[in-house]
Amino acid sequence: MSERKTGQGMEQMWGEQVVKLRAEDAARGQLFSDGNYAMFIHWGPYSNLANEVDGKTYYGIGEWIMHSRMAGIPVDDYKQRAASFNPLQFDAEEIAQLAKDSGMKYIVITSKHHDGFAMYRSKVDDFNIADATSFDRDPMQELAGACKKVGIGFGFYYSHNQDWTCPGGSGGPETDAAGQTASFDDYFQRKCLPQVEEITTRYGAIEIVWFDTPGEMPKEYVEQLVAVIRKNQPDALVSGRAGHDLGDYQTLGDMDVPLRNVEGMWESVDTTNDSWAYAWYDEYWKSPQEILRRLISCVGRGGTYMLNVGIRGDGAVPKRAARTLRAAGAWISRYPQVVYAVDASPWQHALPWGDITCKGNTLYLAVWQWPTSGTLYLPGLKSDVADARMLNDQKSDRVGFKKEQHWIRFELPSQAPEALVSVVEIELAGAPRVDPVWGLDPEFCTEIQAEFAAVIGATKDSVRWMEKFGEWKHVTRVHQWQAEGEATWEVDVLVPGDYQIDLTYAGEGRMVWGVGIKGGEHIQNEQNSSHNYQTFPLGLLAFPAPGRYEVGVRCIEGNIEEGSLQSVHFTRAQW
Ligand code: GLC
Repeated sequence: MSERKTGQGMEQMWGEQVVKLRAEDAARGQLFSDGNYAMFIHWGPYSNLANEVDGKTYYGIGEWIMHSRMAGIPVDDYKQRAASFNPLQFDAEEIAQLAKDSGMKYIVITSKHHDGFAMYRSKVDDFNIADATSFDRDPMQELAGACKKVGIGFGFYYSHNQDWTCPGGSGGPETDAAGQTASFDDYFQRKCLPQVEEITTRYGAIEIVWFDTPGEMPKEYVEQLVAVIRKNQPDALVSGRAGHDLGDYQTLGDMDVPLRNVEGMWESVDTTNDSWAYAWYDEYWKSPQEILRRLISCVGRGGTYMLNVGIRGDGAVPKRAARTLRAAGAWISRYPQVVYAVDASPWQHALPWGDITCKGNTLYLAVWQWPTSGTLYLPGLKSDVADARMLNDQKSDRVGFKKEQHWIRFELPSQAPEALVSVVEIELAGAPRVDPVWGLDPEFCTEIQAEFAAVIGATKDSVRWMEKFGEWKHVTRVHQWQAEGEATWEVDVLVPGDYQIDLTYAGEGRMVWGVGIKGGEHIQNEQNSSHNYQTFPLGLLAFPAPGRYEVGVRCIEGNIEEGSLQSVHFTRAQW
């Protein structure tokens, strides 16, 4: 039975990403905007296969296991395998409690993924957990109830366009069981529309309906689905991947936490390891500190962070996932003010030692690299500091500070109060006014990405690729260099002297790069390269006095067309 080819790659299927200012109806999405942190759950019969089919392991995002990009399991074969899905370990209350303990404000779970299997008792299609397996329960009902009980929100992921097992669905069979040609409209009228009606009427209040990969789905269908949601769940948000700009906010590409502030309402969606669905081999779990760094940076850029857990085929949560989420959650319970209902950082980007969120005239400096010198340097703050405190769980100790040029130096204890992230709370005398110039930190390496460069005679753009299938990496690069092409950054120096320059780039063969200060020293060096982004040393560059400098990078020799610069690193030589 031939499948309805989509011809689009996954990222094209995500649709256009459009900045979405706060919904005109502010009530919608309160939890999204103030909560800033949520649990994404991928769970389905693919979790039971766990990336292994007939003894062969397939590496990549497990929910795609039946797709030709992974194991290419024919529809009937997949349906047979799905019948053995029987997750008796599933404990909705334990999962809702885990989300709560992790500091997450709502859960969004896969009610139906691209494989077309409904994870609830659907009346319109029998390829569902209650009718197609011996697991005669409705886990979505249980989880909706459990979330309500612990006081967190609940929402559904629903693959509205792709359905690989339903005739007419995108990527699905082109004919039905009787051999009749099945159109997308058949799939939509017979399954998609009535199922969205089901999930928005039978599980109580819904926070979000998370549509995905709209691909080439015609606009009128998306409009109908949004209308059903508005009718049944007026306060629910529709995800950015609804299609045709009909979502209520922007969903960035998978696993993308942006480097620069993004306007409007948006979310980053990320994984606790490298797969959305449970994959037996994937033990590459993010540490609690890594989770906090990505969460705080996402919030610091103005977004909401939805972090995924892939529940196992038996219904249990992988132990290591629960452990790292709980450890990060314990920290959030001590410093909720850093994450919830805060605004983006006025610095527009992270800093060498951590990141910043703010609330009114209060700044929260989240420090995950503790200065052994006991001095924390903050560049570009124009507002006066009224008070500065080192938070230590419920206590806080005043810290000394001194303004120097365009910088503030904070005198911190030599020992960090927290193992994961320590917080310095700054009370300003007025609203935060900041010059987001990149300051070269006197103590830590300052890595400045190509994202922030001004470019002539080269191309600056963003590229994303998959390491394993579905494991997305995102880079902004400067490439396609022409002779005399240059990328420049303005930097501010407090402590003059020599700074070690390293470059992160990809390329082909040996390359000569040059780095120079406008009107100052110029250095160049030859180093090797590969198609992976790697960091190579260039040498020392002198910044003779405190002040502003324009630093330029050139790709001078070698295959400059292929030279692809990701970032430049400045580390003060302390000798
Ligand atoms: C992509 C994948 C899908 C996954 C989603 C999560 O669209 O195709 O499998 O559920 O990303 O964001």
